[in-house]
Amino acid sequence: MKIKEALSILTKTLKESNIATYSIDALIILKESTQKDDVFCLTNPDYELSKDESDKLNRLLEKRVKKYPIAYIQNSKEFYGFEFYIDENVLIPRQETELLIEETLNVAKEFKNPKIIDVGTGSGCIAITLSKLLNIKITASDISKKALDTAKINAEKLQADVEFIEADTLLFLKEKVNIIVSNPPYIDENEYKNLQEDVKFEPKKALICKNGTQIIEKLINQAKDLCRYLIIEIGYDQEEFVKTYKSLLYLKKDFAGLPRVAVFRFG
Ligand SMILES: C[S@@+](CC[C@H](N)C(=O)[O-])C[C@H]1O[C@@H](n2cnc3c(N)ncnc32)[C@H](O)[C@@H]1O
Repeated sequence: MKIKEALSILTKTLKESNIATYSIDALIILKESTQKDDVFCLTNPDYELSKDESDKLNRLLEKRVKKYPIAYIQNSKEFYGFEFYIDENVLIPRQETELLIEETLNVAKEFKNPKIIDVGTGSGCIAITLSKLLNIKITASDISKKALDTAKINAEKLQADVEFIEADTLLFLKEKVNIIVSNPPYIDENEYKNLQEDVKFEPKKALICKNGTQIIEKLINQAKDLCRYLIIEIGYDQEEFVKTYKSLLYLKKDFAGLPRVAVFRFG
């Protein structure tokens, strides 16, 4: 099979499978299968794929048709201008989480050398981005050892000063810090069932918790004695829940106009 035939098959199959991003996905799958770059793939239509390359292309196409996320196919996702290594052990960083970075940067201005903890670090995208932008050491935790292994790859790749701790919520923290930031799991079992198919390939533990609010609740209760600010990502329907806390300072809406980041101040 030649590149021009491969691209035609990929585009047609992905389009027929209702993949909205079929053109770009076709090129990504071709690049992943051949390990060639965009320029090569687009300027060498008569390049003949080897058997291994064709086999890989078919495997990836089959996965994508079943809505397997393109970020896992590429093992890569951009977040706040940095390129993160991504695998099935971690949530794919979302654009709305960049708002969490912006609010943390705002709040951090209050401190000279802010001490910041990122809880539920996943790929490490929050901790690593903050560490790079503020030029400070950050502590990042996660309950999943596999997620931490992926986050460590990113810290090394992006040369960020991050200390990683395997722990449940804030149970590991003994000393007060300035800011605790977290994008915790905030979806309940029922809502999970209705999510798009591609999300089901992501780690369930990264998305779901009891009532959708159990971990947020736990973090607020723990954080009040451990930090000045807690900055947390919330679900679109959790505004009323977080408003029941007197320590809520403000809520920030995302690009879709949905409440997305809750900032708490204690003491
Ligand atoms: C929504 S993901 C966020 C990942 C990453 N921070 C991001 O924004 O893309 C939630 C993360 O919290 C971790 N997690 C789930 N329950 C936890 C708990 N009880 N304590 C600490 N981390 C937890 C999951 O393993 C997952 O990596």
